[in-house]
Amino acid sequence: MDPKQKFEELRNNAKKDLENFSDCLQELILLRNKYLAKKGLIPLMMNNIKDVEDKKAFGELYNSCKNEVEALFNAKISELEAKKLNEELKKEKIDITLPGNNYDRGVANPFYKVINEIEDIFLGMGYSIETGPEVDFDKYVFELLNIPHDHPARDMQDTLYIDNNLLLRSHTSSVQAHVMEKAKGKPIKIICPGKTYRRDNDDMTHSHQFAQVEGLVIDKNINLGNLKATLELFAQKMFSKDTKVRFRSSFFPFTEPSVEVDISCFNCKGKGCNICKGTGWIEILGAGMVHPNVLRMSGYDPEVYSGFAFGIGIERVTMLKYGILDIRKFYQSDLKFIAEFKKVVEE
Ligand code: PHE
Repeated sequence: MDPKQKFEELRNNAKKDLENFSDCLQELILLRNKYLAKKGLIPLMMNNIKDVEDKKAFGELYNSCKNEVEALFNAKISELEAKKLNEELKKEKIDITLPGNNYDRGVANPFYKVINEIEDIFLGMGYSIETGPEVDFDKYVFELLNIPHDHPARDMQDTLYIDNNLLLRSHTSSVQAHVMEKAKGKPIKIICPGKTYRRDNDDMTHSHQFAQVEGLVIDKNINLGNLKATLELFAQKMFSKDTKVRFRSSFFPFTEPSVEVDISCFNCKGKGCNICKGTGWIEILGAGMVHPNVLRMSGYDPEVYSGFAFGIGIERVTMLKYGILDIRKFYQSDLKFIAEFKKVVEE
């Protein structure tokens, strides 16, 4: 047979095979091998070359047929590979409109947030932070604070007793006595945040467990003006820049003079509203100058040293700052309450 015709036929057959071909890549490769593998139909044509006169022309025909068929197969293979890839990509496509996994982020209880804020403010004024035991001896909770046995002032702070001598502390002022004992007559500038306990009826504003931040400064020449300036700066940082502070005389056995401290209402700015009960002022803490008896009992000469102390109710400050009405919310682990607060923090 005329080689030219033969090659033409091979070429056409390959084309026809490709046209009828289904889309299976493996079958296509088998088909390609049928024409182009070492012993495929086209390479086998070379066996005829020995009988051909014009070997050069035969070679040219062979190469062009082989190249053309190869190109046809390569094109088809690339086409199929692209199609397959596209299908895979389609299957793997991520639907970004699906809702994601919701990780519920926690939020600090407002109570702890306020403790941190108070600590930051006083650290900024050069105070250091102290802690003391929640279960303490009568000596530290009362005796060293000028509250002798059977003194009526004990009634205000009735608490839970472990035995005659050991009790849950009714205020953080007990830490004053511990710190003075350790300081051995040296100057002191500390705050102490912590839990306290009293035999209180639990209602909207009282709880048998609550928390305070105690403050104590002892040095030479400490006066009531220093106390007022300190508390004013604290109130301005805690509530608002224009907050004013007012002292009302009061009584605590361990301070003389003793004061209740009011701040001007941050809500109505003194005009009178329901937060300040129409007075323009809100009571936030008790304070005073450390009583000479207290200084003396802890080894300080009241003729040389003086000091001031204050006790801030943490729940009270937090309730005022965030408009929380019921103190019991702090201890009930009510997630609805915390979630509500999350909004306040994020705003
Ligand atoms: N310990 C007092 C109380 O719990 C508060 C206070 C602290 C008053 C320091 C004066 C000085 O009520």
